[in-house]
Amino acid sequence: MSKTPITIARGDGIGPEIMDATLAILEAAGAQIEPTFIDIGKKVYESGNSTGITDEAWASLRSTGIFLKAPITTPQGGGYKSVNVTLRKSFGLFSNVRPVRTYQPFVNSKHDAIDMVIVRENEEDLYAGMEYRQTHDACHSLKVLSRAGSELICRYAFEYAKANGRKKVTCLVKDNIMKISDGLFHKVFDLIGEDYPEIEKEAIIVDIGMALVADKPENFDVLVTLNLYGDIVSDIASQIAGSVGLAGSMNIGHSCAMFEAVHGSAPDIAGKGIANPSGLLNGAILMLHHIGQNDIAVKIENAWLYTLENGEHTGDIAKDKSKALSTKEFGEAVIRNLGKKPNSLKVAAEEDFKQMRMPTHAERTLSVRNKELVGVDVFLEWEGGSPKDLGEKLAEITPSDMDFNLLANRGMKVYPMVNDDVEIIGDSWCCRFRGKDGHTKNESIQQLLANISDANIDWVKVENLYTFDSERGFSLLQGE
Ligand code: NAI
Repeated sequence: MSKTPITIARGDGIGPEIMDATLAILEAAGAQIEPTFIDIGKKVYESGNSTGITDEAWASLRSTGIFLKAPITTPQGGGYKSVNVTLRKSFGLFSNVRPVRTYQPFVNSKHDAIDMVIVRENEEDLYAGMEYRQTHDACHSLKVLSRAGSELICRYAFEYAKANGRKKVTCLVKDNIMKISDGLFHKVFDLIGEDYPEIEKEAIIVDIGMALVADKPENFDVLVTLNLYGDIVSDIASQIAGSVGLAGSMNIGHSCAMFEAVHGSAPDIAGKGIANPSGLLNGAILMLHHIGQNDIAVKIENAWLYTLENGEHTGDIAKDKSKALSTKEFGEAVIRNLGKKPNSLKVAAEEDFKQMRMPTHAERTLSVRNKELVGVDVFLEWEGGSPKDLGEKLAEITPSDMDFNLLANRGMKVYPMVNDDVEIIGDSWCCRFRGKDGHTKNESIQQLLANISDANIDWVKVENLYTFDSERGFSLLQGE
């Protein structure tokens, strides 16, 4: 078998320790890989490169398209962009797949029978990383969701479920509050779900959904959700399953795939040689399946399961801490056990791994939309008096073909006043204007902005208000 070129980053913190143990196991098992090692992360940030990724690293990743990555430390503050987020977005790694299982009675866990797969949208949502300080007091963070992106991840989740004989897909959203963004994801989930009649579907509000994952994880099979919720729920799931040190994950795109552990660089235990390499090893097992080396993947997984059954554990999961193995010793135990199979835990088999169909964007076509500009929200920084003072001033300078509708403070209508008790906080205001006769045009908005500037009021952001086939494309403000 010819060797598959792959790119490897040894990472930060515990990264090099767990990568060395993982690679030793891959080599002993006969994995046919040809690695190129790249530097990304802390060392690169500290050399003055704020992306954390060198040109050589980009070149290697473009050439191999397969990346085994140890965790990276993202320095807090200082304008550094997360390497993980940059890689996921640069290579279109739209799907983050995180299988979570329990290994009782060999690894203590809060529940008996967890066997779920979290499919997390990986490129959009609040991880678009578009944040703005708009006024002295207020900042905004953009939650960006697209219909195409939502469709791709929902279809991926159903295709994954279908290929792997999974029975149910659960969607987690917060569309009782975020009716337009999370509402879009929910609608797309329902629509795509119609193409998979054999699979049970459910959509749950994310807060109770996470509580249920923590309380009754056995009720979940495949979960599909937005980037931020997926990040949180996968940590909850892996923690209640035993340790964050156990679970691996894959980030899948159309031309590149990245495999890693779900946990981070664990600076608190770095350099001590005690980290559990299992998360990264499970990431590497997913990689071997992805590159078609199912026999090696299965051999390693069975040796690893046997090692867990045999009570050979690192400190994070050891029942008797005095007998805990180091990272290296645990790796050596797995190597010694290559060729063995677990006695009680489910034996991994090559036929369990099914190739799935990769979905493409927009397999369901969008119906033609009549998009109409009906108004505008203008955000202001202003501390010149009461909402009434500002409201009356804005009403005076509104162009004749527009109506000044209302003024809101943190999303709550404060003028015309509905309730004198509403507490006004900060210096950020949203002013809603609508076109007379139900529509407006860019020229009117430009005139409005010029009038606001002439009145010495600082406008900081503009959001156009549209309807799509008469359906409102913006939320009503509280009290509107
Ligand atoms: P973390 O996952 O690194 O650590 C959380 C806790 O779990 C710590 O107590 C740690 O000792 C323990 N732990 C983690 N992995 C373990 C292992 N393999 N064996 C035994 N114990 C383990 O999360 P934290 O502390 O919030 O983040 C540390 C750094 O990692 C941050 O800079 C963060 O940005 C980065 N990070 C990187 C990720 C990646 O590269 N994919 C993912 C998550 C965080």
